[in-house]
Amino acid sequence: MPPSSLDDDLDADVEQTRIISVTVNGVTHTAEAPVRKTLADFLRQQLKLTGTHIGCEHGVCGACTVLVDGMSMRSCLMLAVQAHGHDITTIEGLGEADGELHPLQRALHETHGLQCGFCTPGMLLTLKELLDNNPAPTEEEVRVAISGNLCRCTGYDGIVKATLLAAERMRKEGAA
Ligand code: FES
Ligand code: FES
Repeated sequence: MPPSSLDDDLDADVEQTRIISVTVNGVTHTAEAPVRKTLADFLRQQLKLTGTHIGCEHGVCGACTVLVDGMSMRSCLMLAVQAHGHDITTIEGLGEADGELHPLQRALHETHGLQCGFCTPGMLLTLKELLDNNPAPTEEEVRVAISGNLCRCTGYDGIVKATLLAAERMRKEGAA
């Protein structure tokens, strides 16, 4: 038998799959995932959760951001198999099950913090992580938190205003 070429080895690699079990937005999914498939593609193609957007595909734009065990993660840089056993939150899981929006979503809508909306899912999950860890951020802290999420059309002001508004409302609701 002739020795296998590099291409054959790569093809064999692409075809390898693993059974993984991932909890996404509170629902546990067991699925067969190709070992080289990114978490972003797995969410979009296999679980049909297309709210996770793909922009640059190399970790720069932040559009694909999801929460993994509560921490923001570029899902284009993570393999689906690495998510095995972990808890993922995507934009589809940010609001309530009855359709009520998360305070961040409501505030973004009210302050015109989005235009095309392509960056918005990743932006919101990054901001959720911020408010989970820091319920009373300063404007500068908000700007630093979203510095890794590129938005080409809002100029960020509406997003920052929305975050401060949502944080204030959440603090009031928490105190009520
Ligand atoms: Fe993942 Fe841009 S698509 S960071
Ligand atoms: Fe368009 Fe952010 S709303 S890129």
